[in-house]
Amino acid sequence: MKKYLKPYWIFCVLAPLFMVGEVCMDLLQPDLMAQIVDKGVLAHDVSRILSVGVKMILFTALGGLSGVLSGVFANIASQGFGNDLRKDLFSRIMSLSFQQTDRFTTGSLVTRLSNDTTQVQTFIGLAIRGFVRNIVMFFGGVVMLLRLSPRFALVAACGLPFVGATVVFFMKKASPLFRVVQEKLDGVNNVMQENVAGARVVKAYVKEDHELGRFDAANDALCATNLRVQTLLAYMGPCMNIVLNLCVVGVILVGGITVKTDGGVTPGSVMAAITYLSQILMGIGFMANIFQTFTRAKASAERVNEVLRESPAIADGAEKETETQTGTVEFRGVSFTYPGGAGGEVLHGIDLRIRKGETLAVIGATGCGKSTLVQLIPRFYDATAGQVLVDGRDVRDYKTEELRKKISFVMQKTELYSRSIEENIRWGKPDASPEETKAAAAAAQADAFICDAEYGYYTPVTEGGHSLSGGQKQRISIARALLKPHEILIFDDSTSALDLKTEAALTKALRESDPNATKIIVAQRIATVQHADRILVMENGSVAAIGAHEELLRTSPIYQDIYASQLREGGAA
Ligand SMILES: Nc1ncnc2c1ncn2[C@@H]1O[C@H](COP(=O)(O)OP(=O)(O)OP(=O)(O)O)[C@@H](O)[C@H]1O
Ligand SMILES: [Mg+2]
Repeated sequence: MKKYLKPYWIFCVLAPLFMVGEVCMDLLQPDLMAQIVDKGVLAHDVSRILSVGVKMILFTALGGLSGVLSGVFANIASQGFGNDLRKDLFSRIMSLSFQQTDRFTTGSLVTRLSNDTTQVQTFIGLAIRGFVRNIVMFFGGVVMLLRLSPRFALVAACGLPFVGATVVFFMKKASPLFRVVQEKLDGVNNVMQENVAGARVVKAYVKEDHELGRFDAANDALCATNLRVQTLLAYMGPCMNIVLNLCVVGVILVGGITVKTDGGVTPGSVMAAITYLSQILMGIGFMANIFQTFTRAKASAERVNEVLRESPAIADGAEKETETQTGTVEFRGVSFTYPGGAGGEVLHGIDLRIRKGETLAVIGATGCGKSTLVQLIPRFYDATAGQVLVDGRDVRDYKTEELRKKISFVMQKTELYSRSIEENIRWGKPDASPEETKAAAAAAQADAFICDAEYGYYTPVTEGGHSLSGGQKQRISIARALLKPHEILIFDDSTSALDLKTEAALTKALRESDPNATKIIVAQRIATVQHADRILVMENGSVAAIGAHEELLRTSPIYQDIYASQLREGGAA
């Protein structure tokens, strides 16, 4: 965390310096007050009262100015620190693999990025000013007490161990609870995140009550833990006050006895001693407060560091220069098990070579591993055995960015962003001209409906693309993929929501507009795959058959089954 403070070191030095100025002014006040009482009020000297009064006002103004400057500098440092930390954390979260994001959970990552960074930032702001303030207040107060009378300092010394013990006791009890609070907050954020994103499904299944119950449970758990911490800390203040008040009684007793027996202690100095004593002991109380913020921030900093320390599971390769056949994709004995391995091996010994410019369709029952297979090409996951090669080079030998630049991938689940349709399409090629954007949309069979929309290409897309139909979303995602420069085009069941006529027009447009790209098209319908150069039939994570439509119709029983069942459905329809 230290490196995030480095750029602001000058403010980290200036803020405490000005804070020292403010505290010094504060420390002078009780002494001046004692002078007013002893040498002004008790001696009936009005001019003395006035001159010391003016000094008090002057010192107060100076102290105030120092305080303001200290506050401004501390804020510049802590806000800058928080800003840089959040940026770094966000960029690290972006670099995590699917597997790592799943492990942390989205809710927890959101809490770490928002609440945890704020906890650390708050501590920095408080520590820069408060730490120095309390130390100077403590030692300054002791010096001033000693100046007044060593007996007062002795009373303070008697009170100190009790205050210290109180602080240590409460902090030891509260510290472990701070991490629990953050974990409970993760729980609330997880339920909230799932339900806000999936609000439509919740409503469709009339599950509001069920989800409200889940949210209430998570929220109640957070509330209960917070209450435990706060109740515990609520005892700390009064306990400190008891010790403080006992010390004040001590000073009054010592002062009273000494005023009578020893002329050196005056009523004004007893008053000043009480104020110094309060400042010293309250300073310790404030230190406890800083310590409390520190323990809270420490728990948060650990959680932030857990993410920052996470090295991307999909790391860049050594960029070996073995590239020979542009646009080819090859699987050599590829097997795959998802991290954690709960579902067992999903792909088994896949051998496959896809030529440049070839269109390979992938068909097979739901859950047979089609998406998993294509996700290994841009390295969303790494094969557990065997090799995946792009352009003749193992995908693990690429810089991830370079590898992904070659590939346009249309995901099975469409993700659009809340900006205009045009910006969504241009996302993979921000400098694309309006003509290029329109051409990509036209090939994706999206141009006509976009032009019909209220503001054409500038029509805003609502969050998650809810303002569009399923087929419209798919076509915008396809246009986005077509516009992004690529050698390899992968459609993961991306035309499932299109009617057969639109789909046929899209396939034709693809062949004409993008003849050089190697195309891998995952689909469920025979109509989608039948014109591909080759069709890969998958069964339970293995290659069951591969060949052209006519050939498979003759040789592959599984393909024949799929064909016959779809023919029956078509006939029934
Ligand atoms: N992230 C994941 N973690 C663990 N298991 C997964 C994950 N994603 C998929 N699986 C499992 O891997 C298997 C293959 O899933 P995959 O998504 O590749 O199937 P698919 O052929 O694309 O199915 P569909 O046609 O329904 O899209 C399934 O049994 C699924 O449960
Ligand atoms: Mg799939």
